[in-house]
Amino acid sequence: MYEKSFSAVRDFLMSLLKIVHWPEPVLETPGDLVTEFDERLKLLAEDMFETMYESRGVGLAAPQVGVQKRLFVMDCSFREDPEQRIVMINPEVLMIEGEQSGEEGCLSFPGIFINVNRSLRAVVRAQNLQGEWFELDGMELTARCMLHETDHCDGIVFLDKTTPLKRELVKRKIRKLQKAGEWD
Ligand code: NI
Repeated sequence: MYEKSFSAVRDFLMSLLKIVHWPEPVLETPGDLVTEFDERLKLLAEDMFETMYESRGVGLAAPQVGVQKRLFVMDCSFREDPEQRIVMINPEVLMIEGEQSGEEGCLSFPGIFINVNRSLRAVVRAQNLQGEWFELDGMELTARCMLHETDHCDGIVFLDKTTPLKRELVKRKIRKLQKAGEWD
């Protein structure tokens, strides 16, 4: 019994990836296309889900764990609905419509929340872990999440989506946290 739970804890800890924080260059570098749909890619996606859930996020893109590739995982239901546990590989935004305004967070900017205007609806085309193409048509949080994470795949962070003034304020706050040793 002990052996079993110990190995479960160990497997869990080993599956957690280190989330990189801005301004790590990988966050502002466009990801490479994923071309190999192999076992390693499946493991990466699994570990990204575990890391995302552990950090209480609804989306996590590969550049955020230091992997310069075009893929992300998301679950806007936060484990409630298995159908919302989605991996999107080589995502492309096909269509956007409408507008929404709201607070957004990002696991690469811990503790920072900023107002970001996004499209209300987005249709995104992507490949799954088998390399098959599919389309996801999402509204509200799903659209916001798909657009935020597709931006990560393009080397764009949410800071780029706000006003120059707000961007400066956030950068200043981060510099302060860095000086205090509270931002790595
Ligand atoms: Ni993010």
